[in-house]
Amino acid sequence: MKNRVFVVFLTLLLLCGGLLSANGKSEAAAGEGTGLITVGYAQVGAESDWRTANTESFKSTFVEANGYKLIFDDAQQKQENQIKAIRNFIQQDVDYIVVAPVVETGWETVLGEAKAAGIPVILSDRMMDVSDDSLYVAWVGGNFLKEGQDSVVWLNDYLKKTGRDKEKINCVLLQGTIGSSAQVGRTKGITEGLAKNSNYNLLAKQTGEFTQAKGQEVMESFLKAYDDIDVVFAENDNMAFGAIDAIKAVGKVPGKDIIIVSFDAVHEAFNRMIAGEINADVECNPLHGPRVAEIIQMLEAGKPVDKIMYVKEGVFDQFNAKEIMPTRKY
Ligand code: AHR
Repeated sequence: MKNRVFVVFLTLLLLCGGLLSANGKSEAAAGEGTGLITVGYAQVGAESDWRTANTESFKSTFVEANGYKLIFDDAQQKQENQIKAIRNFIQQDVDYIVVAPVVETGWETVLGEAKAAGIPVILSDRMMDVSDDSLYVAWVGGNFLKEGQDSVVWLNDYLKKTGRDKEKINCVLLQGTIGSSAQVGRTKGITEGLAKNSNYNLLAKQTGEFTQAKGQEVMESFLKAYDDIDVVFAENDNMAFGAIDAIKAVGKVPGKDIIIVSFDAVHEAFNRMIAGEINADVECNPLHGPRVAEIIQMLEAGKPVDKIMYVKEGVFDQFNAKEIMPTRKY
């Protein structure tokens, strides 16, 4: 009883002093009495040009002038670092937690902790595979499976146009971080698409971890093992850049001797398409900052939000890259 009287007294004292906000969070934690919405962003890392554009999109959206305080964490491509970051955000009693998960699985416990603390979690870019989807409020990102499927549709058309649709075509696949939804979706789309046509032969697939250095290393090993590679699928642009260096190093011409199909469609990939080194690029849009801000504003206004929001994405190639390049934002 004594304790309850003390708690009621303390709460009244804090309210009088303006230290508790309407949602019950202490203002010291939720933006230190500034009225700002505090957002913790658990970012994957800085492994690619796409990721840099994504980070920039969040950093330029969640600024004080727009009413936000952003706490940014770079997990260096490690799930354990992201889990630590989420726990830190919970401790700091942020208003919203945003996660671009490194991999799909293993999130139930920490998301349960965020839910128990009453902090809404928004997923962006990659998805999580959780048994209870009430652990997050909404997800916004690209349709990775469709991206993979689109890449094979592009190859089918290209081979037809160039009169090679009856040939045996040997492919290799540079995969992203194994277990990330970007890898899972793209690999499924590509491998299922290739399996539909018996002319295609998938020689090998291996992860290049979405980085240029690893992409180059894996491509070098593919080129040592096989002298008759016709097509490389690189599950992101940075691995494609690494593959191009590996192909040049063995005296072959990227884009001619070996067809390169990539993902992301960042600026440098457009340069490479214009130069003829990448044949096609399936877009993955990284500009999620404003999209997540819109979700937060809807939630603040007490409005319902869609659980799953796919961003519309295109496919570009050597034939339209020059014309489209000036319109690109990343
Ligand atoms: O999840 C999106 C992927 O992650 C992008 O394709 C890649 O470049 C990044 O690292």
